[in-house]
Amino acid sequence: MAERRRRLIAGNWKMNGLFGSGRAELGKLARKSMAALRPEVDIVVCPPATLLRPFADLLRKIRAGRRIALGGQDCHGEAAGAHTGDLSAEMLRDAGARYVILGHSERRADHGESDAIVCNKVAAAHRAGLIAILCVGETAVERAQGQALTAVRRQLLGSLPGSASAVDTVIAYEPVWAIGSGKTPTAPEIAEVHAAIRETLAARWGNAEMARILYGGSVKPDNASALFGLPEVDGALIGGASLKTADFWPIAVAAG
Ligand code: PGA
Repeated sequence: MAERRRRLIAGNWKMNGLFGSGRAELGKLARKSMAALRPEVDIVVCPPATLLRPFADLLRKIRAGRRIALGGQDCHGEAAGAHTGDLSAEMLRDAGARYVILGHSERRADHGESDAIVCNKVAAAHRAGLIAILCVGETAVERAQGQALTAVRRQLLGSLPGSASAVDTVIAYEPVWAIGSGKTPTAPEIAEVHAAIRETLAARWGNAEMARILYGGSVKPDNASALFGLPEVDGALIGGASLKTADFWPIAVAAG
């Protein structure tokens, strides 16, 4: 029988969280995941980079490191050098990260990250031994013009280095218009894009059965079960609802 893809639930805290409150929230999540969650769901928390090291220390102290992994939200393409304010994938790994979100639409928009830049960053993540969570997604205008699949395929092919595989790369489909808006695509729209992503990966890799494809954009406790019911959805990338364990935990439970 074919191996099953493990579900993955990733929380993207974005530029939110200070040491005290963040630590308390992570502690709550860790205790819940150790007490209840079936281990076939991978949980990743991507806090601001300033919190990676203290969070890694906390997870080690309470022995929750096997239940919750940490991730960064961006990295530079180089390992080190004269790049004021930037962080390398090696630094994220050194601080305790195992994953890194790359190509998020907020990075693409706020920092002008092209597919080529994102591709370089994904390769850097792999060089450092991190799993890349590569984000792709169409804008509202692209969807209105019937260009959603074209836009997603173009981003995917342009942002994916030749050496990437299903082991070191997770794809997150995040329609730009669904992020933080409370709007989500319909189930058939999500299924269509996820199938197109898997087909595109299969054309590149020969086989993409084990590739994990997440949905992201206004995932909440009340829509999580319906999302995880879609056969092509292997988990979620969650922004706003990842900041409070009271919201994040029910989503993780729905995935299990
Ligand atoms: P949201 O953000 O869940 O707040 O819509 C998702 C994301 O940007 O990753």
